[in-house]
Amino acid sequence: MLKIYKVKNYDEMSKKAATLIAAQVIANPDSVLGLATGSTPVGTYEYLSKWYKESYLDINFEDVKVVNLDEYKGLTRDNDQSYYYFMQDNLFKNINIKAENTHIPNGLEDDEAKACSEYEDIITSLGGVDLQLLGIGGNGHIGFNEPGEVFVKDCHCIELAPETIEANSRFFANKEEVPKKAYTMGIGNIMKAKKIVLLASGKAKANAIKQLLSGKITAQVPASVLQLHHDVTVIADEEALSAVEI
Ligand code: PGA
Repeated sequence: MLKIYKVKNYDEMSKKAATLIAAQVIANPDSVLGLATGSTPVGTYEYLSKWYKESYLDINFEDVKVVNLDEYKGLTRDNDQSYYYFMQDNLFKNINIKAENTHIPNGLEDDEAKACSEYEDIITSLGGVDLQLLGIGGNGHIGFNEPGEVFVKDCHCIELAPETIEANSRFFANKEEVPKKAYTMGIGNIMKAKKIVLLASGKAKANAIKQLLSGKITAQVPASVLQLHHDVTVIADEEALSAVEI
């Protein structure tokens, strides 16, 4: 089942997403959260950090576990564009989560098969993901599952699509500095999550959201597979929903 929350803007989207995550953690203090990076979830993490600091809602992350969706291959953890750094900076350092309960693919592992099988083992050992937070690429990617011929089920190493390198170059000095490869959870890992919350803000996401909500299910638009999941909540602002009628 796919539920849509239409919100006014980025701030409302962020607040709603933070509320759903907080509700998950309050209801199940030992939840496994699948978390995402990028511009989209920054506001969500700001709300969670603020609410934790102010003891609002008494959210306690002590027993929460996190598995992140993806990581660039080859960036060191202290590189401020690594997703390890992003998660520390935007969320983990602000809340009482235990470092040993946070997991991100090992971008420094050169052996791709090893990096991926180790990450699969971590997800399995945690018993799967309770709530998976997702952004969406303008090309319909989720995690770093780029458009392709087939849906890839498990964690894998991917060559980033040219449009993703272009989109993410805004965070780097220039396009050449954007890593060309990344480790990502596969579509099977994402689809096994008990609940999925997908966020989208801005016009650049309008076409991807249209494909997700009403397009045909195809590996050319990886997010379209979410139509087959039993519990997806899309929180999208007016601009991201501007290509669909709801
Ligand atoms: P963004 O990226 O949040 O930076 O727009 C989303 C994504 O690529 O999944």
